[in-house]
Amino acid sequence: MEIIFATQNAHKISEVQSILGDGYTIVSPERLGFNGEIPEEASTLEGNAFQKARFIHKMFNLPCFADDTGLEVKALNGAPGVYSARYAGEGKNSEDNIAKLLNELSDKDNRDARFRCVIAYIDRLGAEHLFEGIVNGQILFEKQGAEGFGYDPVFCPEGFHISFAQMSLVEKNLISHRGRAVNKFVTFLSQYSTDI
Ligand code: IMP
Repeated sequence: MEIIFATQNAHKISEVQSILGDGYTIVSPERLGFNGEIPEEASTLEGNAFQKARFIHKMFNLPCFADDTGLEVKALNGAPGVYSARYAGEGKNSEDNIAKLLNELSDKDNRDARFRCVIAYIDRLGAEHLFEGIVNGQILFEKQGAEGFGYDPVFCPEGFHISFAQMSLVEKNLISHRGRAVNKFVTFLSQYSTDI
């Protein structure tokens, strides 16, 4: 089954494709000829995920999903949250985002954090569905590892002593927020007819 992933992030497409497995082929908006910006102007992860999925679904009238993720840090009252990508500015630069995060936490004892991912899916009939995945962990004092993207080098998932950036994609997907949300999504797709 072909399914559109409303994203321009090639890294995410390969992460999610490896979780979905051979039964589903992710098609990017780019492959369908759309190279423009996908709007995400909501103030919640759920609002953004639905905005992106609806935008692309409307364009191609095919089943489509979109995700939105936030890093929620306890000592920062849930920030950067929905603003994780542009925490240090519109440039969406991961190095700057990490530097700002470490700086904000420099005088805090509590380094508890979680990644929360939501997936909004619009099926063939236009019905909307939502799936959520969470991974708890801690923000490290300095960067560790070179895999992954975003805040991976400073996020240590609960029960581990290494960062996400020190894990292979397969290891990360088994426990990550996105892995958990995508697994719920796959279970949904497989329980219901492939027609939706
Ligand atoms: P998005 O909504 O999935 O694009 O995520 C927003 C921002 O959260 C990204 O730009 C990254 O900075 C961060 N982020 C999302 N997923 C991950 C992840 O798996 N690891 C590290 N950072 C992530």
